[in-house]
Amino acid sequence: MNKSGISVLLWASLALLMSLLLITAVQAAPAEASPMSARLAAQSPAIKVLRGPMLHFLADPSQTPRLEDAVQYFEDGMLIVRNGVVEKFGPASTLKASVPAGVAIEKVAKDQLLLPGFVDTHIHYPQTEMIGAYGEQLLDWLKKYTFPTEGQFKDRTHARKIAGIFLKELLKNGTTTALVFGTVHKESVDVLFEKASDLDMRLIAGKVMMDRNAPDYLLDTPTSSYEDSKALIKKWHHRGRLLYAITPRFAPTSSPGQLEMAQKLKQEFPDVYVHTHLSENLGEVEWVKSLFPERSGYLDVYDHYQLTGRRAVFAHGVHLTDAEFSTLAKTDSAIAFCPTSNLFLGSGLFKFDKAKSSGVKVGLGTDVGAGTSFSHFETMGEAYKIMQLQGRKLSAYESFYLATLGGAKSLDLQDKIGNLQSGKEADFVILNLAASDLGRLRLSTSKTLEEKLFVLMTIGDDRNVASTYVAGRKVYGP
Ligand code: GUN
Ligand code: ZN
Repeated sequence: MNKSGISVLLWASLALLMSLLLITAVQAAPAEASPMSARLAAQSPAIKVLRGPMLHFLADPSQTPRLEDAVQYFEDGMLIVRNGVVEKFGPASTLKASVPAGVAIEKVAKDQLLLPGFVDTHIHYPQTEMIGAYGEQLLDWLKKYTFPTEGQFKDRTHARKIAGIFLKELLKNGTTTALVFGTVHKESVDVLFEKASDLDMRLIAGKVMMDRNAPDYLLDTPTSSYEDSKALIKKWHHRGRLLYAITPRFAPTSSPGQLEMAQKLKQEFPDVYVHTHLSENLGEVEWVKSLFPERSGYLDVYDHYQLTGRRAVFAHGVHLTDAEFSTLAKTDSAIAFCPTSNLFLGSGLFKFDKAKSSGVKVGLGTDVGAGTSFSHFETMGEAYKIMQLQGRKLSAYESFYLATLGGAKSLDLQDKIGNLQSGKEADFVILNLAASDLGRLRLSTSKTLEEKLFVLMTIGDDRNVASTYVAGRKVYGP
């Protein structure tokens, strides 16, 4: 063959190769996925298999007579993920036969533990940069530190930078889903959703609605808050794995007119969330009574505007009355229990037992920046101490249930996340049980799984998170 014949042949082969690559890439993307999920799916192998110690929960261990009906632990377990969804989870001895030939099996080591990703039911991303602000309780803390910090989030560049840092902190700490406050600026939520969408995370967030009792630079109006929230709902709610929450900051910063707008939004978009604060601090509770004298109490303000109900999440609830606990249960509303925040701001001791006996759904929230850690280990450890101060015990199994399936139930996402049953979205973490000299020593003296988990929630931190997976793809770790 002459020279020009060879080059025609080379060009023809190259063109064939390019079209084959294109067809393969298009086929790898699931048809219904968002463009970003399609890109991620194309990047990660369709099937992923892990083997080693694994744990998840099927129910609340404190409400289940037989522990084995609530806690599933496999010393030699296997997790098979296909296209970002759990296909099979169970003992390796029974599942290994179903692993297709040629698929590599990732090893989870003996001193590691694979479990579902943590669920943070209440956190403020704009407060990441002001965590650990000294010396004030809620209302002065808001004035002195929070409002000036949140003022910066009109600037998309600043918001984008903090959103990136925030999401990285979540993943470093093994948190794969969070219910997140933005600021009053719609831009703040827009950039957070953009970044979470890049990671294909299941995240719920909302623009703060507040039209009074805050500095002018942070105020919206009933109409603008309605319009901005509606535009964000239309743009982001159910886009990929993202969901929207109508987010009035708390009753004191919303006029009755604005709460009516929140109600109108909820009526127009019934499957969005409602996310706000409730009965955190005694001064705040008195203030609400003086602002809304016609209402029977703090919760009645939200209830009056039909903001209670399934997918309504109230942060704190430290000073609730028995009647308010009953209303929360009756309306199927949830409480985000935020231990590090309640201690840091001196707010009080959450009556977790009362919430449970009243039938109220409870999840754990870090509440950064009033909360002092992104870590669910530290959050569980402080929850334990809050219960100790009330003469009660909080077991390790119950704590890890709260941080996973309990959180998912509080967010009404139990059919999608929270454990590793077939069909769930494959969000999971691999923990190093010993990540420090002290951790290694203490692990060597721990006999049972429950004792190991309790040590984790007592002295664990982000060093104990080896890797984090979102929809089956590793997003943090080596
Ligand atoms: N109540 C109203 N706003 C806030 C906030 O930003 N953090 C906490 N912890 N409580 C609040
Ligand atoms: Zn909060």
